[in-house]
Amino acid sequence: MRYLTFALGKGRLVNQTMELLDKCGITCNEVTDKNTRKLIFTNEELKLKFFLAKGPDVPTYVEYGAADIGIVGEDTILEEQRNVYEVLDLGFGKCRMCVAGPKSAKELLDHHEMIRVASKYPNIAKDYFYNKKNQTVDIIKLNGSVELGPIVGLSDVIVDIVETGSTLKANGLEVLEEICPLSARVIVNQVSMQIETDRIRKLIKAMKENLD
Ligand code: PRP
Repeated sequence: MRYLTFALGKGRLVNQTMELLDKCGITCNEVTDKNTRKLIFTNEELKLKFFLAKGPDVPTYVEYGAADIGIVGEDTILEEQRNVYEVLDLGFGKCRMCVAGPKSAKELLDHHEMIRVASKYPNIAKDYFYNKKNQTVDIIKLNGSVELGPIVGLSDVIVDIVETGSTLKANGLEVLEEICPLSARVIVNQVSMQIETDRIRKLIKAMKENLD
């Protein structure tokens, strides 16, 4: 039996993902061990491997077949636009993709002004402003702490995920427009789905049955 490999996005989804897999009888405690520098973990009994990767790299590993299955936020899936099957909504990691900024920027949005938008998600921002709103904007790619954009005068607004809203609040910003709701998803390599149909289907079924 060949190994089935899971790519997991580092960060806030990992613990909930491992809890869910645990409920499915799939244990790999090493994954959540903060002291280890190891990158890949094996469950010999079930012939499974797990590795943690930067969120945006998860769909890449899955598209190329370096991982059979990926668990990552829908924000990343939408942004990366990789050829993978999206097979299950895990229902956790719920948040919203939003346009946010100071209250004063609402007017600029309403009047379709030519504004500057900072985001870790330039493709999502582009699709929203160009295709859904028909508003021409200047999109600036950032790699994190995007809320700084409007504060330091780099941009008028940001496009970012909002979970509790506390980061926005702490920085005097607010949600100005909602783009879409988001949650954690399971993605599968298209070839793996054909050659390992039974094992992958069983895994997905077990995950589905153990969702809260
Ligand atoms: C995300 C996002 C916001 C924050 C939203 O950042 O980019 O900054 O979380 O969460 P909240 O609504 O609960 O405050 P993350 O923590 O992933 O770090 P980053 O800013 O470095 O990308």
